[in-house]
Amino acid sequence: MAKRIQISRHGGPEVLEWVDCTPPEPGPHEVRVRNRAIGLNFIDTYYRSGLYAPPQLPSSLGTEGAGEVEAVGSAVERFRVGDRVAYATGPLGAYGEFHVLPADRLVRLPDSIDFEQAAAAMLKGLTVQYLLRQIGRFQGGETILFHAAAGGVGSLACQWAKALGVRLIGTVGSPEKAERARALGAWATIDYSRENVAQRVLELTGGRKCPVVYDSIGKDTWETSLDCVAPRGLLVSFGNASGPVTGVNLGVLAQKGSLFVTRPQLAGYADTPERLQAMADELFAVLISGQVRVEIGQRFPLAEAARAHEALASRQTVGSTVLLP
Ligand SMILES: NC(=O)c1ccc[n+]([C@@H]2O[C@H](COP(=O)([O-])OP(=O)(O)OC[C@H]3O[C@@H](n4cnc5c(N)ncnc54)[C@H](OP(=O)(O)O)[C@@H]3O)[C@@H](O)[C@H]2O)c1
Repeated sequence: MAKRIQISRHGGPEVLEWVDCTPPEPGPHEVRVRNRAIGLNFIDTYYRSGLYAPPQLPSSLGTEGAGEVEAVGSAVERFRVGDRVAYATGPLGAYGEFHVLPADRLVRLPDSIDFEQAAAAMLKGLTVQYLLRQIGRFQGGETILFHAAAGGVGSLACQWAKALGVRLIGTVGSPEKAERARALGAWATIDYSRENVAQRVLELTGGRKCPVVYDSIGKDTWETSLDCVAPRGLLVSFGNASGPVTGVNLGVLAQKGSLFVTRPQLAGYADTPERLQAMADELFAVLISGQVRVEIGQRFPLAEAARAHEALASRQTVGSTVLLP
C-alpha cells in the first residue's frame, strides 16, 4: 500500500485528499518511480480548481518530481531499477509516493543534482529554457520585462537572463520580493502593487520599451504588458495566475505597435524525447556550472499539499516549493 494526493471534485485546497492506493505495475513502455521530492507548480492549482480539466476524476495531481526507478516495463531499455531520474511533462500523478509514467518522459539525473533540486527546477527550469533560449533567442544587451520575478519560474529566469547578458526588469508584489529578485540577478524591479508598470518601463528603457515581455499573471496584467512591448515586439503570455486572458480583440496588437503574441506551454516545446533531453541537458549545465541556483523557498510534507496550495495561491511563496513524500 502507498499514499497519494487525489481530487474527487474541483474546488479550493480543501478538495485535496490524502488516500491509500496500490502502486500499479508499469506497462511495457512505462517506469514506476519512487518519488523522493515533488515540485509544486501553479498549474497544479489550475487542475485542482477546474480551470484545466484532468482526463478523469478522481485524479491525482502534479507533473514534476524526482526519485529512483523502482520498476520498469518489459520494453523499456533506457532505464534500470535504481536509476536516479526526474520528470516534468506529465501525465498527472506526481503527488504520490510513487508515479508510473512513460519512460520517454523521464530524464536521467546527474549525480551532482539532488532530488529536491531536481523537483524544484525541472518544470520551471525547462520552462525558462524555452522562454529565454527558444522563444527569446537573445544576443545579450536586450532589456526584457518578466512578471512575478520572485516566484518559482521567475527566480530561475532572473539568474538565467543575467547569465545571457539580458537585462531583466522583474515585477514583484512586495519590497521583500523586489530585493530577492535583484539579489538573483534582476537588473531592475517594479513593485506592481504600488508602481505604474508601463510608466516605469518607459523610464527604465529610455522610452524604447521591451522587445519581449513575459507575462504569467494573465488577466490582471495583459493590458499593461501590451503597453510595455516595443513596436513589432513579442508578448509571451504563458500563465494565468490571476485568471485567463479572454476575449482579445486582435486589432489591439496593431494599435499598440504591430505586436506579436504567443501563448506557449512546456508540452509544446518538450514534445519529443529528444527535445526534452536537449532542454534538460542545457538546464542541468547551467545548474552544475552555478550560473543558475535552485531557490527552494518552502518545503511541505506531501500529505500537507493543501497548505502548499494555499501558500502559492495567496502569493506567500518565494522561489520554488517542494513536497516531500
Ligand atoms: N506555459 C508554461 O509552459 C508554464 C510553465 C510553468 C509555469 N507557467 C506559469 O508561470 C507562472 C509561475 O508559475 P510558478 O509555479 O513559478 O508560480 P510562482 O511564480 O511561484 O507563483 C505565482 C506568483 O504570481 C504572482 N501573482 C500575481 N498575481 C497573482 C494572483 N492573482 N494570484 C496568485 N499569484 C499572483 C505572485 O507573485 P507576486 O506576489 O510577486 O505578485 C505569485 O507568487 C504561473 O502562471 C504558471 O501557470 C507556465
